[in-house]
Amino acid sequence: MKIKTVELVRTAFNEEQYPKDNFPQIVIVGRSNVGKSTLINTVLNRKNLAKTSSKPGKTRGINFYLINNGFYLVDLPGYGYAKVSKEMKKQWAHNIETFLNTSKYLRHALLLIDIRRTPTEDDFLMVNWFRHKELPFTVVLTKADKVNKSEIVNAVEGICKTFNIDSERIIVFSSLKKMGVSQVLSIFDEWTKK
Ligand code: GTP
Ligand code: MG
Repeated sequence: MKIKTVELVRTAFNEEQYPKDNFPQIVIVGRSNVGKSTLINTVLNRKNLAKTSSKPGKTRGINFYLINNGFYLVDLPGYGYAKVSKEMKKQWAHNIETFLNTSKYLRHALLLIDIRRTPTEDDFLMVNWFRHKELPFTVVLTKADKVNKSEIVNAVEGICKTFNIDSERIIVFSSLKKMGVSQVLSIFDEWTKK
């Protein structure tokens, strides 16, 4: 897939603000600071489209990016960020859940996990939810530039076992090295056909 046009159509904080059109959607989920917004910028080849930060909790609303006037890439706020109030965490969890439970046009999910970390309870919850809803998903291991080749192999093996998935459903990704970009684009192709 060639990215021709990208438009941030909406930043939604509640259900009423979701776009009303019926373009297929691919959602990006993962814990705070895992590199969701950075992946969007890298894959779409737009430097500062999605706001990124070294401090977790940057993305707060749900961002709907319309790609090639044909599908939405949906950037969710990250979960598991410790340094916010309980009230705020509840609100975020609610926002994420509402989106996942109400979107009729979800085709595929990219679950991002830092390649150096073991999956958290929240990551497991996501995978269980995808299975429950029969939503196909791919695991993207981010920040692969931070580890060596054998650590990459180990991480992929670990994720296969942990989630009981095939290694074909894992993408090793690095925004720094532009690793895994074409695989993510293939996912877009595969899951956004009308
Ligand atoms: P929230 O919006 O808080 O949920 O975070 P996010 O998942 O959108 O993370 P974001 O893209 O803002 O990136 C968090 C930090 O990780 C930033 O400092 C990025 O520069 C860094 N980062 C993201 N991807 C990579 C990568 O592939 N390699 C390296 N070395 N750093 C990365
Ligand atoms: Mg973000």
